[in-house]
Amino acid sequence: MTDTTLEAATALFLDLTGRAPDGVWSAPGRVNLIGEHTDYNDGFVLPFAIPHRTYAAVGVRADGLGRVRVASTFAAEPVEVSLNELDELFPTASGTAPGVPEWAAYPLGVAWALRQADGVASSAATGTGLDIAITSDVPVGAGLSSSAAIESATASALNDLWAAGLDRIALARVGRRAENEAVGAPTGIMDQMASMLGEPDAAIFLDCRSLDANLVQVGIAEAGLAILVMDTRVKHAHSTGGYGERRAACERGAAIMGVPSLRDVSVDDLPRAEELMDDVTFRRVRHVVTENQRVLDTVKVLRDEGPRSIGDLLVASHASMRDDFEISVPELDTAVEAALAAGALGARMTGGGFGGAAIALIEQDAVQQVSDAVNAAFAASGFAAPVIFTVVPSAGARRDA
Ligand code: GLA
Repeated sequence: MTDTTLEAATALFLDLTGRAPDGVWSAPGRVNLIGEHTDYNDGFVLPFAIPHRTYAAVGVRADGLGRVRVASTFAAEPVEVSLNELDELFPTASGTAPGVPEWAAYPLGVAWALRQADGVASSAATGTGLDIAITSDVPVGAGLSSSAAIESATASALNDLWAAGLDRIALARVGRRAENEAVGAPTGIMDQMASMLGEPDAAIFLDCRSLDANLVQVGIAEAGLAILVMDTRVKHAHSTGGYGERRAACERGAAIMGVPSLRDVSVDDLPRAEELMDDVTFRRVRHVVTENQRVLDTVKVLRDEGPRSIGDLLVASHASMRDDFEISVPELDTAVEAALAAGALGARMTGGGFGGAAIALIEQDAVQQVSDAVNAAFAASGFAAPVIFTVVPSAGARRDA
């Protein structure tokens, strides 16, 4: 799977330019084990990188014109702009810049944000023009961070070719800035950090306030378990609608509590929060506060007891997103309920919500049984068939060639 995508990126580059790329870089999508909508509240998350990757074949242009051209299998036409023009295109207040299709705003936004990063702006090398060819096998719109995969692959390539010298965390910040200010999605930093820092068999326990990241061994395979992804194929976009509204409710809740962010509210503060705010704001706050605690609990349980014991935390997380944060959809609830009824130890929607994918923690030998049960439940509800596959925690961004 991976190799064909790498070769496809090289072939696309050759098509575009008539020559071989200077290198190929790649970065993965992610699944979040637990900790949803906590990242932009300065809280805790526990994602891991998945085997699905985006590849960027990149070469320095010989014409000396300082132009950047991006091609991808997402679209027939490449997009070309001058690097100086990027400062006029971005930031965009909301939505993408005029004349820039959304897929191209990710790599171009990364080029723009990287040129503006601390310590980079003065480097002459960032004026060097580039050709970029992108291919990906990360499902798009499935809540598996196909966008962070593009951002992290592109950021890694540009960092090397422009000799910008940024570390992985700085590159994650570049990717997030592209997403926020070039694509117009007001997201947190979880996805880019997971894509940059992923390691095989480990989840990344990230404090989104300090950006302190610690690898936590998940030991899924050793425990005889597997993680199933159930992509509902209900598409979502975080540049519109519900995601931004949830974020605004969290900011409102923090302001009412008189703290900089909901990270500073604990489970013990919830009775006071309930007295101070309207019901909807309170329930949004309760999700974030209890979810932060669930991340801490999950890390502790993983370390002390192993993955067999985290199921109830996953189930509680889903219930909180469904009832308090109200970001689930019937397809996600159906996937979670069917997986649990078929014997999953735990299951929850993963990612921003309003569609996308759910995950289930299952026995290794129950993949077929749980998949059949989820498929049957979707058919019985009249939903389009989901796409179901297993994932293992995998490597983060890297140079492949
Ligand atoms: C999306 C965003 C992340 C995070 C999740 C919800 O994936 O990109 O920053 O907020 O939603 O946990």
